[in-house]
Amino acid sequence: MTKELLIQKALEASKKSYIPYSKFPVGAVILMNNGTIIEGANIENASYGLSMCAERNALYHAHLQGFSAKDFVAMAVIGPTPRPISPCGACRQVMRELMQSATPIYLGHHGPLVEETTPEKLLPYSFLPTDLTKR
Ligand code: THU
Repeated sequence: MTKELLIQKALEASKKSYIPYSKFPVGAVILMNNGTIIEGANIENASYGLSMCAERNALYHAHLQGFSAKDFVAMAVIGPTPRPISPCGACRQVMRELMQSATPIYLGHHGPLVEETTPEKLLPYSFLPTDLTKR
């Protein structure tokens, strides 16, 4: 599947977002090595801080469907930004733990630009499970 098509799938996922507060639809999809596409969209709450981003919803959805990092071919994310969407810091931390470090991530927007990156590039020198040692 091309990155353009995967970004198109992310745009479709963004239509499932629940965004009464921000009115800012974000969609994310993960392509699996068996062809399955797992979706995520942002889900907000009247208690604003409880809102959950599209990227983390996709990653948690994938985990709950029995997929793990080794199954991921690529992720795509899209939002209505003037430049390709930039995932928030919390999502970068979760990407770094639940994805392989070099898995492609395609970042799109409601325009022609696509940014290609990876979890490692989005969050260098990240805190990792291997950093957790007993005290
Ligand atoms: N949001 C995402 O879902 N992903 C991003 O990469 C950036 C921000 C959501 C959170 C909130 O629901 C809305 O976009 C505005 O911040």
